[in-house]
Amino acid sequence: MSTHDTPLHTPLPVAPFPSRRLNRWAEMAWRVAGGVDVRTKILGMVLALTTVLGLAVTLQVRAVMTRVFMEELEGRGVSVASDLASRSVDAILLNDTYTLHELLIETVNNHPDALYAFVLDRDNQVIAHTFGDAGFPAALLNPTLAVTAPNLVGTIRHWVYATNEGRVHEMIAPIMGGNAGVVRLGLTEARLRTVVNTVTGQMILTTLLVALAGIVAAMILTWLLTRPILDLVETTQAVGRGNLQARAPHWADDEIGTLADAFNQMVSDLDASQRTVAEKEQARFELLKKLISAQEEERKRIARELHDGVGQMLTSLMVGMRTLQRSDDASPAAHRMDELCATASETLEQVRTLSRELRPSLLDDLGLAAALERYAGEFARAHPTITVDLHCDLPMRLPGPVETALYRIVQEAMTNAARHGKASTISVLVSRRANAVQAIVEDDGVGFDVAAVRKRQSSVGIFGMTERAELLGGKLDIESGPEGATVYVEIPL
Ligand SMILES: Nc1ncnc2c1ncn2[C@@H]1O[C@H](COP(=O)(O)OP(=O)(O)OP(=O)(O)O)[C@@H](O)[C@H]1O
Ligand SMILES: [Mg+2]
Repeated sequence: MSTHDTPLHTPLPVAPFPSRRLNRWAEMAWRVAGGVDVRTKILGMVLALTTVLGLAVTLQVRAVMTRVFMEELEGRGVSVASDLASRSVDAILLNDTYTLHELLIETVNNHPDALYAFVLDRDNQVIAHTFGDAGFPAALLNPTLAVTAPNLVGTIRHWVYATNEGRVHEMIAPIMGGNAGVVRLGLTEARLRTVVNTVTGQMILTTLLVALAGIVAAMILTWLLTRPILDLVETTQAVGRGNLQARAPHWADDEIGTLADAFNQMVSDLDASQRTVAEKEQARFELLKKLISAQEEERKRIARELHDGVGQMLTSLMVGMRTLQRSDDASPAAHRMDELCATASETLEQVRTLSRELRPSLLDDLGLAAALERYAGEFARAHPTITVDLHCDLPMRLPGPVETALYRIVQEAMTNAARHGKASTISVLVSRRANAVQAIVEDDGVGFDVAAVRKRQSSVGIFGMTERAELLGGKLDIESGPEGATVYVEIPL
């Protein structure tokens, strides 16, 4: 094996330039054809087809007719000229120019295409002609007028002259083998050309009529074809816009009809499944609403129980202990009683705070603004490192459920800011809009990845805030970055 083997895979030659240009043309044609609607495509095809077909047939018929007519003209000319030559022999021999003249006139009159005839003697002198008073045109004797080379049919020569009135075929027939002169007969193409032109015109007219009929037929066809498709497109767009009641009409039992049925079935199924989802969502919504109101009721009950029951009992316990303490100051138990009194007072304070946290009675009695003021104060006392900045711009009381929801949302957001964000400042802004109430809780803590936390679904706090807002037709957004987190909530009124 030589060391210079040719490689097994020689690179294929790149497509030559013309093919690339062809591709570009095809692409361009497709872009144009693809860009127009179906109606225009079908109309264009019908129009192009009928026109090309009509023109091709017309041109072919015209060519065939012209050829046949010319052959026929030549054949007729040859026979008339030879007949004339043999019939003029007697008159020439008798030197009877009158009879010769009559013979020429009669022949020209009897043949619709005959233009003229004349007889020359052996010396090329005109003996008789049919030009009458106008006189014999000397130019006819000039052979350079001929546009075709003379062709010989038997003993008869045939050539063609061009004149202002069209081409003239001249037949030159020798009389007595040429010894007595020649007869020359002129035949015009004009009549036959007129016939050919008339037929051509009629065929073009027919082509136009056929094209027109084709356009009408194509329009009807495209209307029949595109109407169901356009309906289907319209229905699809309506479904896309969310109207699941839209249905495509079934025009015919063809493929398009089957497509419309399949589409309608699909939309029906989609509608049914969306209805099921909506019903389930509604049920979940109701359940959640009940759960939240039951939770609030339960909190209210426990808070009241703590405040009115346990609180009152602790108070009377303290009063009892104080009375006992004062009645016998010197007893050794008096000092112990002091401590017990302090413990009872602390417990009472804790019970009151717990009761307020569970359900601040202020929220029911004085409204959101007062309850939030109280909560912010307590929050600041419980978190001495955090500055709480609260602005409540609420000229009127809000509906109970809205106040409760906003109170709980602010409570949770502030707790999160302190617990997770390690914030040093929390600002709360609650304000009334035209038809809504808005609350913003902003902290300067470490922030967090909101999307990730929402995806976790185990975060009850954020989930609860969102649900509370949505149950009242509102929405809750959280934005967060390294410089802190902000909770926006808006509830319509
Ligand atoms: N203001 C905030 N700053 C920093 N991280 C936050 C903030 N708020 C929430 N997070 C993050 O989001 C997570 C979810 O908060 P979410 O309130 O839902 O649950 P939780 O506070 O952990 O528990 P729960 O509120 O149910 O007691 C938190 O664990 C915390 O990592
Ligand atoms: Mg939380």
